[in-house]
Amino acid sequence: MPKQIDLVKKIVSLCKRRGIIFQNSEIYGGIGGFYDYGPIGSIMKYNLKNLWWNDNVIKRKDIVGIDGTIITHPQVWHASGHVKNFYDELAECKSCHKRFRTDLLKSDNKQISKCPECNGQLTKKRKYNTLFETHVGVIEGEKTLTYLRGEACQNIYLNFKNIVDSSRVKIPFGIAQIGKAFRNEVNPKNFIFRSREFEQWDIQYFVHPTEMDKWYEYWKEKRMNWYKSLLNNKDNIHFRQHTKDELAFYVKKAFDIEYNTPWGWAEWEGIHWRADYDLTQHSKFSKKDLSYTDPVTKEKYIPWITETSGGVDRTFFYLLLDAYQEEKLENGNTRTYLKIDPRIAAYKICVIPLASNKPKLIKKAEKIYKELSQQYSIDWDDSSNIGKKYRRQDEIGTPWCLVVDYQSLEDDTVTIRDRNTMSQIRLKSNEVSSWLSQKLN
Ligand code: GAP
Repeated sequence: MPKQIDLVKKIVSLCKRRGIIFQNSEIYGGIGGFYDYGPIGSIMKYNLKNLWWNDNVIKRKDIVGIDGTIITHPQVWHASGHVKNFYDELAECKSCHKRFRTDLLKSDNKQISKCPECNGQLTKKRKYNTLFETHVGVIEGEKTLTYLRGEACQNIYLNFKNIVDSSRVKIPFGIAQIGKAFRNEVNPKNFIFRSREFEQWDIQYFVHPTEMDKWYEYWKEKRMNWYKSLLNNKDNIHFRQHTKDELAFYVKKAFDIEYNTPWGWAEWEGIHWRADYDLTQHSKFSKKDLSYTDPVTKEKYIPWITETSGGVDRTFFYLLLDAYQEEKLENGNTRTYLKIDPRIAAYKICVIPLASNKPKLIKKAEKIYKELSQQYSIDWDDSSNIGKKYRRQDEIGTPWCLVVDYQSLEDDTVTIRDRNTMSQIRLKSNEVSSWLSQKLN
């Protein structure tokens, strides 16, 4: 394995080389904190979000989903407290002029007072709000100042009453959403770990206040197990409870699920005890009754909320950190491969005709490709030599390569090569689909 310090650089380079993630606006020199997913990365990200959505919405009777807008009424951000409290403190180095979030300038939990890059003097810290401002309307003077959402979850509170009135949900129940959030971070860094535009997946789980403890513990365990199921190295994830002084302004208790990154343990998902804060605030500001009436007991109350809020891009990055493998081969070369969960890999199988100039091989391989691609995301490669094809597929994490060779023309079998072990098996071509379906379940 590469040294931890090099790992991020290697992943950034792999992502560019193989079309997983690109720096946004690269031809103009880039813009800090914005990234685009390429042809391979966009399929992987879609698979990842799909997995979360299936596990948390489709497969559960007690959770419904929404898909809300990025721009909302400006009052939302006053009610939520973001306009008043969503501040970071920054200091600038007087020598190299780099800016830093002062709350993150720590070493061994002690505050650092010098520039971590060049040891220069830092300016006094200043506060600034990390909400992105925008204006709705086209005529000067009539434009309304509002904000790109600083957290995706607000749409869930805004739609709480709509959902209770229009669906058959009964407490306890959850509302889930995957969506973009925007933060004008002081120093976006570590690739897509901290960016200015990113996606979050949130569940807001509404309960009776007396059941809060039980459900809070339930979600802590549930979310931890979900993330663990995606990791090769399960020792690289743990819980950390927030100390009183680091609790977000709206949270009474919080545990972070953290990942052991090359730069230390870092946040992955927050499990927040939000209680009645959000619905009470929006009730106050909108003057609408956001309480819930129990259909059996007729008790009327503001439900309490456990929030699970994680970063999609951050998950993507941590899974790359976990999956990246380098292996010395007998011939002295190094093989790089992504040992990523097959459900997330962009392609489940790459179909490869052994030679690109043999029409019979191509025809048979095309028939297999056509059949499999009706059901699965399948890649096709009839270029260059077989070693290069394997290298490309290993690097994008394709779990299996299917090779159509001369024996295939005689007995209708194909070889399946495993990404992790490089071992091969032979299967009848019409057995591949059911074999794959078992592997993916
Ligand atoms: N609604 C609660 C909320 O937004 P948060 O802890 O600020 O809570 C939740 O954010 C998750 O969103 C984090 O655990 C992290 O995974 C992700 N996240 C936050 N800021 C991010 C950023 N600048 N870039 C990428 N992901 C970010």
